[in-house]
Amino acid sequence: MLILAIETSCDDTCVAVVDGSRILANTISSQTAHAHFGGVVPEVAARHHLDLAVPVVEAALAEAGVSLDDVEAIAVTTGPGLIGALLVGVSTAKAIAAPRRLPLIPVNHLQGHVAANFLDPDPLQPPFLCLVASGGHTLLGAVRDRFGHEVLGQTLDDAAGEAFDKVARLLGLGYPGGPALERLAAEGDPEAFELPVAMSREPGLNFSFSGLKTALVYLCRDLGPDGVQERRADLAASFQAAAVGQLVAKLRRALKKGDWEAVALGGGVAANGSLREAVAALCRQQGLRLKLVAPELCTDNAAMIASAARFAPHLPYPDYLSYDAFATGEAPVVA
Ligand code: KG4
Ligand code: ZN
Repeated sequence: MLILAIETSCDDTCVAVVDGSRILANTISSQTAHAHFGGVVPEVAARHHLDLAVPVVEAALAEAGVSLDDVEAIAVTTGPGLIGALLVGVSTAKAIAAPRRLPLIPVNHLQGHVAANFLDPDPLQPPFLCLVASGGHTLLGAVRDRFGHEVLGQTLDDAAGEAFDKVARLLGLGYPGGPALERLAAEGDPEAFELPVAMSREPGLNFSFSGLKTALVYLCRDLGPDGVQERRADLAASFQAAAVGQLVAKLRRALKKGDWEAVALGGGVAANGSLREAVAALCRQQGLRLKLVAPELCTDNAAMIASAARFAPHLPYPDYLSYDAFATGEAPVVA
């Protein structure tokens, strides 16, 4: 089935055309207007999506070499995310689907990150354990089928990507901070500063990143502006090691509690080379299969939304006309 998918939950305007597990187009227009503010401004993001939605749909169709007449269903992220940004995607999806009487497929953004693993090349079959770490969420999901995932543990405060972004800002790097911090960390010593690996003594599978971020704030204050400047790479490397350390420690613990044979990653932080290497080492050590999707399928994209849509309920016209976006939690049940 040829699905056109739209993803606008944050600051990337994403449209994909996917046929089964095969990606025909995966177009992403990243908004640069937020760099100036050091983070995403929700209202600015929504306005940019409004300008970009139609051109990005057209670009994706052109790249795929198909027209709207060939498309059999429209998928869209309905949440969680920035409500104004999501509403632009949902309205665009309805506006394309309704006149053509096409079905609409609402998709949960987090299931989208999990479903990136069902795409070519080499789609991963459940069951597997999936670590999703992004700018808004950090969770361990038990993936037993392709319809959803059970949350085994999640962050109690900041998301992993949010911590990368905030520490990057402390070190004077631009937004988004994750990739810039990773580049800087490559020049530093990960053992230069001893930082807390949060919740290592607590038994559960939840995460916490706010203490690590605060530790960095105090460290930078003690070092002073010149000291920070001099030790930037060591600070970045030590932070990255602590953040990756916590993610891998919880993954290891979850593997111990279950009978898993395969592991997968998802979310923007899964593009991080140091995390990918650490998880690969863990999987080698435990004889587990590891699925690592390409970095461009880790960060927000619409191919992952189309992938999740294949296994989600299709709403026929006109049932979806009143369907709404949601900012947090789960999609509300539509009567
Ligand atoms: O999944 P994503 O694109 O959007 C959300 O759903 O939030 O994730 C974006 C997050 C940002 O916080 C970004 O800094 C982080 O992923 N990120 C990285 C890397 N690439 C993106 N963090 C660490 N290392 C990277 N290479
Ligand atoms: Zn995301």
